[in-house]
Amino acid sequence: MKHRILVIDDEQNARDALKTILTEEGYEVGEAGDGEAGLAALSSFRPDAVLCDIRMPKMDGLTLLARARADGHTCTFVMVTAFASIETAVQAMKAGAEDYVTKPVDVSSVLAKLEKVLEKKALKQENEQLRERLREKHKFSNIVGESNELQSVFDVVARAAPTRATILVLGESGTGKELIAQAIHEASPRRDKPFIKVNCAALTETLLESELFGHEKGAYTGAVGRREGRFELANGGTLFLDELGDVSPGLQVKLLRVLQQQEFERVGGTQTVKVDVRVVAATNRDLEAEVKAGRFREDLYYRLNVVSVTLPPLRRRKSDIPALVNHFLERYGEVHGKSLKGLAPGTLNALLSYDWPGNVRELGNVIERAVVLARGADLTADDLPIALRGPRPTNRTGDSLIPGATLYDIEREAILRTLELVDGSTSRAADLLGISVRKIQYRLKEYADAQHTPEKPHVN
Ligand SMILES: Nc1ncnc2c1ncn2[C@@H]1O[C@H](COP(=O)(O)OP(=O)(O)OP(=O)(O)O)[C@@H](O)[C@H]1O
Ligand SMILES: [Mg+2]
Repeated sequence: MKHRILVIDDEQNARDALKTILTEEGYEVGEAGDGEAGLAALSSFRPDAVLCDIRMPKMDGLTLLARARADGHTCTFVMVTAFASIETAVQAMKAGAEDYVTKPVDVSSVLAKLEKVLEKKALKQENEQLRERLREKHKFSNIVGESNELQSVFDVVARAAPTRATILVLGESGTGKELIAQAIHEASPRRDKPFIKVNCAALTETLLESELFGHEKGAYTGAVGRREGRFELANGGTLFLDELGDVSPGLQVKLLRVLQQQEFERVGGTQTVKVDVRVVAATNRDLEAEVKAGRFREDLYYRLNVVSVTLPPLRRRKSDIPALVNHFLERYGEVHGKSLKGLAPGTLNALLSYDWPGNVRELGNVIERAVVLARGADLTADDLPIALRGPRPTNRTGDSLIPGATLYDIEREAILRTLELVDGSTSRAADLLGISVRKIQYRLKEYADAQHTPEKPHVN
């Protein structure tokens, strides 16, 4: 792509000379005869670099540069001056120019300088893009999991987060709803504004109302002064309404109004308060069932449900377990000053065989406990709670497994044992086994699902 250079000079001859040279060099050249025209061309021609005379009638080059910056133009300026003095150079740099050349213009030097500043600019842009990409990549960096189920949650979140759409996060207790709510905020343009959380189940109706909307002085006994509510505190940012399924019908009406009109009155007040708040709501209740049972307003449900994500329970995405175990081993290893090498044989199998009714939270607690109790360098099945220590579902007897076992069973052994060897890293296990990460994940899911087939006795 051709770089665009804008030449601003009041002398026609000087412009023509530069234009000829630069066009020959393969640049696309625009020109302006005075400061006003130059400013206008910044928007219409959108140059990559500007060659700008300093001495011009009406508006001089330095003033033009200052106005360009004030208007938000970031293109590179190279000043052209008849008087090469340190003072001019300093002035130009102070005003934000990248470089300067002297008149009469020396062809090779102006070309060299242009090339240099354009290269520098490209490098800077590349850096910025890199940083942007890194930010994208780390947006969900504290949310661990590679399962397709979780990836499709990330996908919806990544697309919806930048908007101001209300998002409803559903899922059993401990599946990571709060983590997702935070990620939505972090991935939104509101990330530098407040993220405010309200647990709607923790307060009585009256207290919750005043917590959300604030109250005026004397609104009720004990209301000695005006108090701002969470909606006001979250202005410009995100309000996370946790356990929203527990809100009383009276408050549901009020919430619906704020969601629709972004306005409300403080308790005991008549003045309408306007806010700009993005709401993320979460509940572990089945809201649809609550609507059917008449406990949750249908209109509020639809208003909240514009975009919804459901975090699947951990037992439905067991392929996330190895990565999560690693994550928690590292975290709690640090917390308790005990860095464990990994998992002893059989431990991962025990973790994969369990149902995890408390989901990721329960897994985190189990690993923390195990880290605290562990005696050796590896975490063993004995460090796990009794509920997890049952006999292993495969008849694993070491090498004697091979005669009499199906290839499927042998593959299962190979996958699980390799995973244990590499601390649950599916990518390293895939390398060692010479199969794809996807295949490992697929198999883990199969092994997990197999434990739910009714004909098999339940393992305790
Ligand atoms: N994918 C994940 N990666 C890392 N940590 C996770 C993940 N999911 C959940 N956790 C951790 O598990 C714990 C529970 O998560 P969180 O509080 O977000 O769950 P929740 O769905 O809001 O649960 P509840 O309904 O009980 O409030 C937290 O410590 C959280 O950091
Ligand atoms: Mg929660």
